[in-house]
Amino acid sequence: MSAPTVESPFLATCRQQSDDRVPVWFMRQAGRSLPEYRQVRAGISMLDSCARPELVTEITLQPVRRYGVDAAIFYSDIMVPLKAAGIELDIVPGTGPVIAEPIRSAADVQRIRPLTVEQLPYVTEAVRLLVAELGETPLIGFAGAPFTLASYLVEGGPSKDYAKTKALMVSEPEVWHDLCSRLAQISATFLTAQVTAGARAVQLFDSWVGSLSAADYRASVLPHSAEVLETIGQYRVPRIHFGVGTGELLTLMGTAGAEVVGVDWRIPLDEASARLGHRYAVQGNLDPALLGAPWPVVAERTRAVIAAGAAAPGHIFNLGHGVPPGTDPAVLERIVDLVHDEGPEIRRA
Ligand code: CP3
Repeated sequence: MSAPTVESPFLATCRQQSDDRVPVWFMRQAGRSLPEYRQVRAGISMLDSCARPELVTEITLQPVRRYGVDAAIFYSDIMVPLKAAGIELDIVPGTGPVIAEPIRSAADVQRIRPLTVEQLPYVTEAVRLLVAELGETPLIGFAGAPFTLASYLVEGGPSKDYAKTKALMVSEPEVWHDLCSRLAQISATFLTAQVTAGARAVQLFDSWVGSLSAADYRASVLPHSAEVLETIGQYRVPRIHFGVGTGELLTLMGTAGAEVVGVDWRIPLDEASARLGHRYAVQGNLDPALLGAPWPVVAERTRAVIAAGAAAPGHIFNLGHGVPPGTDPAVLERIVDLVHDEGPEIRRA
């Protein structure tokens, strides 16, 4: 007797076809909080590690093995396609992306060339290896959204206020739109490489977009993110759209074209879903800073997130942002078990 093929709970929830199961994965689940990650990365730079398909496969699988999460996220970085497109950059440990020659003028923007899938052979190969290893567990592909990529290119590195980025955006709109159009092409190509090789969902990270007003977001950023999401729409995989501090932007972000909207911890999921008109599945949103609290506190907050998520037409459990490097992996393991064991009952309550 052959059992009917059941779609993964993660994919079903993205499509609002879930039963009461609550799928769970963690942003930045592959990385520094895992000793087995630190071991295989020893002596290899971040960007070099992303160009080695066997290593990418191993690192992507590590959290799936350890935590039993419902989805894998491709181990790479939002800066990888920019480097492939010829932009000189590095990822400095403890700092983040650093750009050799920041993009500040129309002439600088001209230096950004279109990217092709053929320029990402190590991505295609790693995804193929992964899909073969993962079996039923879906692989999530990802890319940085144009604003977040632009913020690194214009600032030259990480920033607190995005002052140079915002100044360019409002004072030279033509240069800004040219920059973001090029970044949208690069972002869409990075996603296309992953999806055509077998990734079964994508997440567009607009991590730093919460620094913008709704008016500036609508005029200067939303069309470019929508362009990326529309391009990838032809592949019919669920699209997740996430940013930090986006409570005031959620209504607009919902219109960008994704099936799932990721939410940080600053706004409860029932309120987030209301702002989204209860039209989208939501993903989130346990505060990552609470992972160091005693387990009963983490457990109560985890239950509260599940309860609030029940207001949305679908809920994928996640943190409100990435796993902090110092996190005890045992806590994430317990969260996964709790979400799987108690999730259905909490949702039905
Ligand atoms: O597990 C996963 O989520 C998959 C892999 C992944 C990485 N970066 C690996 C990584 C993903 C999805 C990203 C996306 C990414 N990269 C984003 C969007 C997500 C978010 O957190 O908002 C951003 C803004 C970046 C840029 C970037 N790359 C930063 C800010 C850093 C951290 C710098 C530091 O050292 O504090 C990186 C480096 C990076 N990317 C690491 C990892 C595992 C750490 C590098 C290391 O281990 O040396």
